[in-house]
Amino acid sequence: MAPPTPERDHLAVVWTRAGGVPVKMGSLYVNEAEARFQYAEPFVDAHLPGLSLLYPPALYGARPVVYRRGGRLHPRFQALIPPAGRHAFLRHLLLAALRARGEAPTPGFEEDWALLLLAGHGSIGHVDCFADDEAARAWYTEAPTPPLVEVGPRLGATLRDLVAWLDADAAPLLHLLGPTPTVGGAVPKLLLAIPATGWTGEVAVPTRGGAADRGGAGGRGGGAEAERIDVVLKLERTAVYPGLVELEAMALAVHRDASFAVPRFWVAEVAGLPALAVERFDRDAHGAPIPFESWFTLLAGGARDIATPYDSALERIGRALDTPRLALVDDPRAAKRHLFLRLVMALLTGNGDLHLDNLALLGGDGGSGGGAHFSPVYDPTPMRAYSLHDMVTPLPFGDYGQPAAGLDHPVTLIEAVARFGGALGIRRDERAALLGRALAATADYPERVAALTRLPEPNKRRLEAIALEVRDRLAPAA
Ligand SMILES: Nc1ncnc2c1ncn2[C@@H]1O[C@H](COP(=O)(O)OP(=O)(O)OP(=O)(O)O)[C@@H](O)[C@H]1O
Ligand SMILES: [Mg+2]
Repeated sequence: MAPPTPERDHLAVVWTRAGGVPVKMGSLYVNEAEARFQYAEPFVDAHLPGLSLLYPPALYGARPVVYRRGGRLHPRFQALIPPAGRHAFLRHLLLAALRARGEAPTPGFEEDWALLLLAGHGSIGHVDCFADDEAARAWYTEAPTPPLVEVGPRLGATLRDLVAWLDADAAPLLHLLGPTPTVGGAVPKLLLAIPATGWTGEVAVPTRGGAADRGGAGGRGGGAEAERIDVVLKLERTAVYPGLVELEAMALAVHRDASFAVPRFWVAEVAGLPALAVERFDRDAHGAPIPFESWFTLLAGGARDIATPYDSALERIGRALDTPRLALVDDPRAAKRHLFLRLVMALLTGNGDLHLDNLALLGGDGGSGGGAHFSPVYDPTPMRAYSLHDMVTPLPFGDYGQPAAGLDHPVTLIEAVARFGGALGIRRDERAALLGRALAATADYPERVAALTRLPEPNKRRLEAIALEVRDRLAPAA
């Protein structure tokens, strides 16, 4: 395929309602040579979170953020667009919406750009992109807050068709919901709002901080809590990943029991499809967006050798946390312990999917950088239950499996965990304590797997065997 270069210069505007009311953050300009983002002058003094933890407004001021990858979007913007690929559920939906408007952009950059303008607002996090200021104002102010609707036969049938990849026309779904903002990933998912009390089978498009979202109580600061909450609704493709929803729900519960912050979630059935509704943690109690940035966009923004969420050793996160110039988080020490424990939990639960887009920072950057922390846990699904995804780790850590100086064998799992912890500055006794905590939290894991009702028996046996084997390999270090 031809490189995705723009056929002409492109201009977009970036807004945010992170402060409770919509304000313009800056402008994005892309040409064949580079992408440039520049803060709007009033925004620099607003003490609001900027484009990224990497680019605090107070530090950048009028100086543009330049991304020199001809004709490409900075990963921070790319993250607002659903990726292409065979299972690009949301991308199909949004392209159908573009076609319905008579737009058929050339695949590559032009298509990404059109999708950014169509759906790069109201997505995960606080960065909203629009074609121009008028489009931004219209979206924030004129947005009607539609009523919650039951997922009835029409919507349900369309979802079923889409999930079955029957090449269904997406128009009926778009007609019922309007284009919803986007999230990446292989699992079909939608951003929706549901009643604040939890899943009832009624859904609406995501909230935009409007009055109706809070039962008419007025703007932020009106005092009323939201009547609706925003969720990520993940749908199970049972033909490919039978039992995925209950597996993810179980893994979330295991992490919650291990004292991780875990969002509320509901196992649901949507028109006969197993579904998981997970409360969004990138919205505050009033529906205002909280900055969210995956480690992929954080690292790829600065490093040319990172082009996918699989392109870095986990140690890179530790190094970024230790870089004083970046000062991403308030408490690097705690962040590194969190990362270590996430890895150990991923190993013990057979996750096999702890890549750079499944680890993220939340919050922070009141205009001058820093102040973020690791987000609550998301996507901890034990993918090793499926032979297709049965790998110990998608990212290298501690030179696992590699030759290493002073060793006459490739680095073993227990050695790699120790080396990784060491690289994060966690000493042996503390590593042992953290590992002990994870082992205790997963002591009944095989029974939890055995108790699942939808995961097929061979997948259960695979996952139980993996869990027991990893336990055996790691237990001596606790
Ligand atoms: N509870 C949540 N609150 C806010 N954002 C979320 C939440 N859950 C998921 N996300 C966002 O949605 C994205 C996709 O969700 P998730 O990782 O759970 O799905 P996935 O289909 O497994 O993705 P992938 O295939 O890319 O790993 C995440 O990378 C994150 O940006
Ligand atoms: Mg994911």
